Amino acid sequence: MKKILDLISEEMKKAFEEAGYDRELGKVTLSNRPDLCEYQCNGAMAGAKTYKKAPIMIANEVAEKLADSEIFSEAAAVMPGFLNLKVKEGFVTAYLKEMESKDKFGLDKPEKVKKIVIDYGGPNVAKPLHVGHLRSAIIGESIKRIARYAGHEVIGDIHLGDWGLQMGLIITELKERQPELIYFDESYTGEYPKEPPFTISQLEEIYPTASGKSKEDKAYKERAMEDTYKLQNGVRGHRALWKHIIQVSVSDLKKNYANLNVDFDLWKGESDVHDRIPGMVEYMKKEGYAHESEGALVVDVKKDTDTKEIPPCMILKSDGASLYNTTDLATIMERMEEIYPDQLIYVVDKRQELYFEQVFRCARKTKLVEEDTDLRFLGFGTMNGKDGKPFKTRDGGVMRLESLISDINEQMFQKITDNHEVEEEEARKTAKMVALSAVKYGDLSNQASKDYIFDVDRFTSFEGDTGPYILYTMVRIKSILAKYKEQGGNPETVDLQDSLSPSQKDLMLVLTKFTGMMESAYEELAPHKVCAYIYDLANAFNRFYHETKILTQEDEQVKAGFIALLKLTLAILEDCIHVLGFEAPERM
Ligand code: ARG
Repeated sequence: MKKILDLISEEMKKAFEEAGYDRELGKVTLSNRPDLCEYQCNGAMAGAKTYKKAPIMIANEVAEKLADSEIFSEAAAVMPGFLNLKVKEGFVTAYLKEMESKDKFGLDKPEKVKKIVIDYGGPNVAKPLHVGHLRSAIIGESIKRIARYAGHEVIGDIHLGDWGLQMGLIITELKERQPELIYFDESYTGEYPKEPPFTISQLEEIYPTASGKSKEDKAYKERAMEDTYKLQNGVRGHRALWKHIIQVSVSDLKKNYANLNVDFDLWKGESDVHDRIPGMVEYMKKEGYAHESEGALVVDVKKDTDTKEIPPCMILKSDGASLYNTTDLATIMERMEEIYPDQLIYVVDKRQELYFEQVFRCARKTKLVEEDTDLRFLGFGTMNGKDGKPFKTRDGGVMRLESLISDINEQMFQKITDNHEVEEEEARKTAKMVALSAVKYGDLSNQASKDYIFDVDRFTSFEGDTGPYILYTMVRIKSILAKYKEQGGNPETVDLQDSLSPSQKDLMLVLTKFTGMMESAYEELAPHKVCAYIYDLANAFNRFYHETKILTQEDEQVKAGFIALLKLTLAILEDCIHVLGFEAPERM
């Protein structure tokens, strides 16, 4: 379905042409003087030089051609040569009716469906999720949903950090504590127990302890490196323990991500590509891409056009061990082989930008990807506390994601039960939904690449540019629709009608912008555009609501028209919050 601005521009271009001017001058934009008009065209100013005419003369001639336009109720030429435009009520109503009748409100399907892999989440096994992981999960989930909404085939992969020294450290610490465990008996050839020898909370304590010890005790670190080596080289007991670590950790992660309404199609990790590494290294050597440098194996990735230093991409350390780079490259190789995506999007902390620049260049140079495979780094900024420094707990420690979320849930629960009487169970459920909207909207409403201040008090407010405000607006609409039913009305059979007031028209015009907004949110991978839009939409709705008698309207037909408008507003808000990754309760 054509975007409304395109339809309007088309009409304007026709008028320019009829008046004897270049039709391309007829581009229409949203008005930057909403007090004067709804749309505007500055084409007459742009054409003045070419046609050696005063802009106002051109504008007047064009305006004349629009006197009987089906689209414009007003096309006024004003000094020095602007065309100020208003559209007909009937045109807006017909446009919204068409939107309503179409799948996704008329958002065009892509010409070519792209296969996209999104690499997001990126938690590390056996380490608790902390707020640093929050942004990747929230933004990645939203990008995934936006791209799917746009009609693409999208695969989300969590890319667990489940390999390397962090795993060796845990094994070493376990050995210190329980050397008698069967896993450490290298002569043992029988089956290992099904039950893991630790719980998630033990695991979460073991890792930091081990990591701390390894920093102080050289011999301990060496033992951890040896255990890492044994694990990576397939020593049975080490592999069995590692599987337990993954199992315990992943089931905990699943619970945590489910609470965030985040889910992944693939739960692959760094370890999954371990067996590909030798082949990949061989290939890079054989083709002459990789060479030795101070004992390590590297691929040069700098270009003559670089303005900053781009160091070589290291494939193997001098001791032959693989690195973060190695697994990322092997993962690209695997994804190309198994999925063959058109695009790979990495939603990772922007401090890893240079690293990904190296990896991408290396993948291109070594032809792990096709020439037209789009490798995209979507780097996000830091989530800061009110003091402008990275978000911490009150005593300065790293804030666990679980505690952060449960604190906000609790705060929301208090707010909801203070406001009115609700059953505890319902209040808890609602609080969870509203709290999630607070956290997600608070994050997504900022441009991803920017740092932002995590301000719980502001995010959880029911007023202003917040998730709860959006949900509050939706709940308000739901409650009007329910009351309409109680009055005997049937919201299923109502039809949109021409607007009767400026606030109603304004609301209708905001609704017409939906498809254009969604298109650019996808093209620019920009969830903040969806947030900005629903904030506008909620404001437009609330202005209309405050100025209009809806349920007390005497004229049944007029009332039905309002109800139809409410329904459409709600439906569009529903789709928008869905792509942002949260949902609205029935009441709050
Ligand atoms: N586990 C990594 C970390 O915590 C993030 C992984 C990002 N994704 C990737 N393909 N490297 O920093």
